[in-house]
Amino acid sequence: MHSLSNSIRKRWHSLVANPAAMRKLWAGEYWQKDDDGLRSVSCNHCPRLDRSNKACTISFGTPLRKCVVSSVEAYLNDCNDKQVLEIGYGRFSLGKNLVQRSGGVWSGIEPQQPKGNKPSLGGGGYGHATEILFPDNTFDLIYGVQTMEHWGQKCTGGTRKPSNYEECIAEIYRVLKPGGAIYFDVPMHFHGHEMFIMADFGKIRALFPIAQWQDVVLEKWRYDSSPLERYSPYDKLFPE
Ligand SMILES: C[S@@+](CC[C@H](N)C(=O)[O-])C[C@H]1O[C@@H](n2cnc3c(N)ncnc32)[C@H](O)[C@@H]1O
Repeated sequence: MHSLSNSIRKRWHSLVANPAAMRKLWAGEYWQKDDDGLRSVSCNHCPRLDRSNKACTISFGTPLRKCVVSSVEAYLNDCNDKQVLEIGYGRFSLGKNLVQRSGGVWSGIEPQQPKGNKPSLGGGGYGHATEILFPDNTFDLIYGVQTMEHWGQKCTGGTRKPSNYEECIAEIYRVLKPGGAIYFDVPMHFHGHEMFIMADFGKIRALFPIAQWQDVVLEKWRYDSSPLERYSPYDKLFPE
């Protein structure tokens, strides 16, 4: 999956991503309510399914990354006049491109940036989920792509202690405007904090106290992958 052609297709998709086309593609109800009350996005109902070829129309990445790209398309296509913060942006630019192209202002924090590189509105710089170097009530939307599951771990290079999830969510709440929104996607049964490896949806929901966070929606993508192939956890993770 790390081939040159895969990276070129990934970059190209991000470069040409068109928010208006994505608003149209993702406008309908692409989920179903599951028995556990959560939303389930099955491949069969996903707008990214090419039915005749039984394939995902995201042409790059692992099955996990295809869902990540689809979900980012669905949630970040309409940011007109919004101040938007990305946490743990790494080297994935699709979210940033969609935010900017749909009329929003993108800012980002990343713990692997040098500490002296302070973030400012409209740019990226150092920060992490318990240290967001912006004033209270700054952002309309805060999001993170495949980062939240790592917040409880030591940062690469060993430069930062593991973060406490309650402190992270409180810090995000501090810089979010009243009435603002958040979006985070995480892998399940994969890596990072145990609650994500075990897909403990009760614990994940409990990170967002009801008194502060209204309308919390948990969406499970690709639990039902038919007619596409199943994407199994690493052999090493669950040897049984
Ligand atoms: C798997 S990478 C994902 C990067 C990028 N968002 C993507 O989708 O490719 C996880 C990212 O989370 C960042 N990260 C880890 N712990 C963090 C924390 N406590 N606060 C903010 N970002 C963190 C890492 O530095 C890294 O960039």
